[in-house]
Amino acid sequence: MKTIVGNWKMNVGTRESVALARGVLLALRGKKRLPEVALCPPFTALGEVRKVVARSHASLGAQNVAAEEQGAFTGEISTRMLVELGVTHVIVGHSERRHLFGETDASVNQKVIRTLSAGMVPIVCVGEGAADRADGKERDVVAAQLRGALADLHLRHKERILFAYEPVWAIGSGTSDTPADAVAMHAWIRSLVPELLPGIKPEQVAVLYGGSIDGSNAYLFLREDEVDGLLVGGASVKLSEFTKILDAAADVLDARAA
Ligand code: PGA
Repeated sequence: MKTIVGNWKMNVGTRESVALARGVLLALRGKKRLPEVALCPPFTALGEVRKVVARSHASLGAQNVAAEEQGAFTGEISTRMLVELGVTHVIVGHSERRHLFGETDASVNQKVIRTLSAGMVPIVCVGEGAADRADGKERDVVAAQLRGALADLHLRHKERILFAYEPVWAIGSGTSDTPADAVAMHAWIRSLVPELLPGIKPEQVAVLYGGSIDGSNAYLFLREDEVDGLLVGGASVKLSEFTKILDAAADVLDARAA
């Protein structure tokens, strides 16, 4: 399976979100084989986008969630609130949250645990900075992030966890990683997971790539077996680009089935 996640960030209001969601559903129409699709609008648009994607192939995702369950946490949004809105996927530990809002491995860990216990699928973001890559430390950085994010976690039978490998220097920069380097990192992530989550089955885990994906490079990543899908930022709010990405995913699935 291939999974395409659109992270709309703080780039669209409710009206644009609804239009975008409708456009995505239209783009999926008529395809023989569909990738799994999750759309992550801003919190304020979740309720309206839910109405559009209800009973469709697309799932509803949130861009963040509170680490705490409930209480005096002004401005925070809990897992229960998200579940009430029909949210099934939650992006956790995005690099913008880590770097701009002080998200730590410990808070990522709490959010992952809460998301799973609320019955939703966490999309756990990891990735090294430019200096780490220059120093050849990208594996160490990603391993440490994974260890932090998955501490004390026990995945139950049917629970799933998605990882998004997003090198920080590739996010929003217009320079993606190379498919070959992404493949190597995905394999590394996949090799660490059984040690961190003993007993986990391969089908409970997917590893997505994110960072400057658009309609022109999506296929080059998706055709790799190690790349289970893509987390798309900038290009996910441009319907024509996102449509090309969905087309690329459908092409890969068709080619596999042929
Ligand atoms: P980008 O963002 O596609 O704009 O590089 C990816 C992300 O932030 O998830």
